[in-house]
Amino acid sequence: MGRELEYMSQALASGSISGDGKFTQKCHAGLQMMLGVHKVLLTTSCTHALEMAALLLDIREGDEVICPSYTFVSTINAFTLRGAKPVFVDIRPDTLNMDETAIESLITPRTRAIVPVHYAGVGCEMDTILDVANRHGISVIEDNAHGLFGKYKGHSLGTFGCMATQSFHETKNVACGEGGALLLNDWKLEDRAEIIREKGTNRSRFFRGQVDKYTWVDLGSSYLPSELLAAFLYAQLECREDIQTRRERIWKTYSSELAAWCIDNGVTTPVIPPHCDQAYHMFYMLMPSFTARQGLIAHLKEQGIHAVFHYLPLHTADMGMRYGYREGDLPVTEDVSNRLVRLPMFNSMTSGEQAMVIDAVLDYSAL
Ligand SMILES: Cc1ncc(COP(=O)(O)O)c(C=O)c1O
Repeated sequence: MGRELEYMSQALASGSISGDGKFTQKCHAGLQMMLGVHKVLLTTSCTHALEMAALLLDIREGDEVICPSYTFVSTINAFTLRGAKPVFVDIRPDTLNMDETAIESLITPRTRAIVPVHYAGVGCEMDTILDVANRHGISVIEDNAHGLFGKYKGHSLGTFGCMATQSFHETKNVACGEGGALLLNDWKLEDRAEIIREKGTNRSRFFRGQVDKYTWVDLGSSYLPSELLAAFLYAQLECREDIQTRRERIWKTYSSELAAWCIDNGVTTPVIPPHCDQAYHMFYMLMPSFTARQGLIAHLKEQGIHAVFHYLPLHTADMGMRYGYREGDLPVTEDVSNRLVRLPMFNSMTSGEQAMVIDAVLDYSAL
């Protein structure tokens, strides 16, 4: 923790804690500079930033959106809310990111967007994804909920698509409880993004003195976080180097201390391609079987350690099946979902706490 409470007190003392005050502006400017993005707009969540992206693209009934099934529900729900049909692509068995070689065969005249998710903060193969998207005139929206400060070929994740989304949910490296951001890399989207974020009104232009009254001009909703959250977030952004260094240490300790056990137990750990700088968001392991995964989670639980699995594939969820998907459609996604386990990883984790987790894992036999 840094100056979170101090900045929140300052926001309170300023007499106004609604959105778009001094701390929101500082977060916008800071993120723009840190990431090299044309425009950043804080939102109340990554889910809401994705909803804004769908509104900005004018997604309508019958449009198709390609994304992984191995992701959080908001990646696609933001688009299905506008009437889009999900088109799920399988993932690569190494990085667990969308299989870029499988995208083109899924494109139809109705395809409007591709939504890569930089899983665990490791970049998707953006060169191939952008090439396919550009050839077909399709927009790319990066769901970068995991990948703040990650890079692909030297450029920040979130700078490749026309838009990208961030999450500052408490589970993320940099957090403010609930929060997010929409990143705009195309300046043409800027005016409408401000309007959509302000309930469909031109209130931002009014505050800048560009119009003499504000009114309803487009679709929109309430996507601005309070200054209290922005103040908290700004303090977190100031600590970003410390946060990332801590997380890198935790990640690398898991990786080295568990390496021999993984080989002996048929377990695999994250693959980071050499051209990717990962965001150190999570440390996961792929166990040899579903039973071994469940066994490890139960074994850790007995020792008071909370390890979790995710994601349940979207295509085999009730909603996915309503769109015609069936079990067996995306074999890598289904296999990974059954075998993946995430080890505890949080900014304030001490070496002692991590040593307890490592000892407990070493004590388990997956075979
Ligand atoms: C890949 C992905 N996208 C979107 C979200 C939604 O983020 P938020 O909770 O900020 O809405 C999450 C949440 O963890 C996520 O993992």
